[in-house]
Amino acid sequence: MVSRVFVSGVAGFLGSHLARHYRDRGAAVAGIDNMLGGNLEHVPAGTRFRAVDCVAPDDYRDLLRGTQVVFHCAAAPYEGLSIFSPTLVYQHTLQSTVALATAAVEAGVTRFVLCSSMARYGNGPAPFTEDLEPAPVDPYGLAKVAAEQLVANLGDRHGMEWAIAAPLAQLAERPAAKARRLLGYAPRWSLEDGLRRTIAYIRSHGPKPFEYHLPIEISSELTPAVWAERLM
Ligand SMILES: NC(=O)c1ccc[n+]([C@@H]2O[C@H](COP(=O)([O-])OP(=O)(O)OC[C@H]3O[C@@H](n4cnc5c(N)ncnc54)[C@H](O)[C@@H]3O)[C@@H](O)[C@H]2O)c1
Repeated sequence: MVSRVFVSGVAGFLGSHLARHYRDRGAAVAGIDNMLGGNLEHVPAGTRFRAVDCVAPDDYRDLLRGTQVVFHCAAAPYEGLSIFSPTLVYQHTLQSTVALATAAVEAGVTRFVLCSSMARYGNGPAPFTEDLEPAPVDPYGLAKVAAEQLVANLGDRHGMEWAIAAPLAQLAERPAAKARRLLGYAPRWSLEDGLRRTIAYIRSHGPKPFEYHLPIEISSELTPAVWAERLM
């Protein structure tokens, strides 16, 4: 029974759901988010939350003490953008992993779960299995594969259990059955219901001002106008 977890990227999609899941099962949940993305409203009540960056362990080291499982969900999961802003994407995808995994080892964390990405597989054909050689085709995928290797290396050398998850793979037919068996996970509604709920949520929350704040590091004729000219 897991009684204490730490979630990075806890204001994001996956992190906030994981935090709620463990809180509802009685675990003490701590989490951080630098608000590069995410939304403070999504941090579940009861989370020991701090708006800090993974790359600055001194700002959250105390929250890791006594943690059994770290779920590292923080990243700059912007695959398309990574071709035009590789520094930004590496900083929040790979550097954030080095810093958090190091702090986790140092704090004596039992298990480290890294949220990787289907970008690890590149353009290869389905089905995607755990034993397929990674073949990333852009800076985001490269950063994720390097992050995976770093976690495995530090974990093995320092005796911290580790696991890598590539979230969308869990939604495919066969992995979903495996996830159900191992985790008791099952989708609660169909894609159609999910879309209906999403539309209802957006309607009930009303329009929000959108500010495009991510830097474009490489501007060329290949840079999509929505980014280069801040058209969103
Ligand atoms: N959602 C999916 O379907 C999906 C699919 C494949 C992989 N993933 C992976 O799962 C993870 C979570 O995805 P998500 O959909 O929840 O993304 P998300 O953008 O909703 O959440 C990521 C969170 O990380 C935070 N963050 C970014 N850099 C940080 C840093 N340096 N320090 C602290 N916080 C930081 C952001 O502010 C954001 O709240 C990512 O690693 C992503 O690559 C998600």
